Amino acid sequence: MATGRLPDFDERIERTRLKIERGLDRHLPRDDEPPGTLHAAMRHAVLGGGKRFRGILCVETHRLLARGEAGASIDAACALEALHAYTLVHDDLPSLDDDAIRRGRPSCHAAFGEATAILAGDALQALAFGILARCGAAADRRIDAVGSLAEAAGSRLLVGGQQADLDGEETVPTPELVSFIHERKTAALISAAMEIGAIIAGSDRETIDVMAGIGRSIGLAFQIADDLLDVEGEEQVVGKGLRKDKARGKITWPAVHGVEASRERARTLVSAASDRVAEAGDDGLLRELFRRVVERRS
Ligand code: IPE
Ligand code: IPE
Ligand code: MG
Ligand code: MG
Ligand code: MG
Repeated sequence: MATGRLPDFDERIERTRLKIERGLDRHLPRDDEPPGTLHAAMRHAVLGGGKRFRGILCVETHRLLARGEAGASIDAACALEALHAYTLVHDDLPSLDDDAIRRGRPSCHAAFGEATAILAGDALQALAFGILARCGAAADRRIDAVGSLAEAAGSRLLVGGQQADLDGEETVPTPELVSFIHERKTAALISAAMEIGAIIAGSDRETIDVMAGIGRSIGLAFQIADDLLDVEGEEQVVGKGLRKDKARGKITWPAVHGVEASRERARTLVSAASDRVAEAGDDGLLRELFRRVVERRS
């Protein structure tokens, strides 16, 4: 496998990240617009932290396939990040994972109370679909992209994965169950990030499906890496409470397969995804982004 290391990787990713940050700031209602508390909670949940992995993946997939200006893909990235932020707000609630720290700060309900956090999550999901529906792409591409996001975010995928994750707390971990959960709660949205990048780029159905498939592999590797961080990471660096999955009886990849096999599986997934993206003409940027999914410390 080609390593895909790029000397200007950090600079390029940082440029994309800043465009997404500015887009998010612009799309979010200001906190002096009533109801100010709700808008402050939404801004707290979205701004000031986060790797923007899903957004960057969407923009860079678009760049690979459209070979032109980022244009509408920045708005699509903002939509993905707004939706992702809603899932984190709800994931942290006392009735779900009960986490008080997120991105090195109080989680949304810890800062604004549970009721406002629920509403902020609801509003962020609506905001995400609104941003995507109105992004600068042609109407047929926008409709396709909205459909893709709805499918990924719904009860058969992301939310279904969250339900299975909760139900799993009461059950014995099995390879089938951990795959079922991880493919849904995390891989589906990461797959949608690549799929939507390809849709906005005007790719044909075959290419869109190839990108979605690569995204599913990377998304699974991403959640395996997250499970490993819960076991081995440093809280200061990761910015959230760790060593909690086992105590809560979560179905995780290391709980089922062990730490070493988990690391190996994540590497294999990244390697296969890297080969496929190289075939699609990646100049090395996506491969470096993928490599960092497994090497990451946060
Ligand atoms: C955290 O996602 C939730 C998972 C699906 C593992 P990220 O690790 O992408 O969180 P941020 O957006 O960078 O904070
Ligand atoms: C989160 O998985 C998945 C979604 C938010 C959809 P986790 O519960 O493992 O994420 P963290 O560890 O709280 O970030
Ligand atoms: Mg969770
Ligand atoms: Mg959680
Ligand atoms: Mg986790």
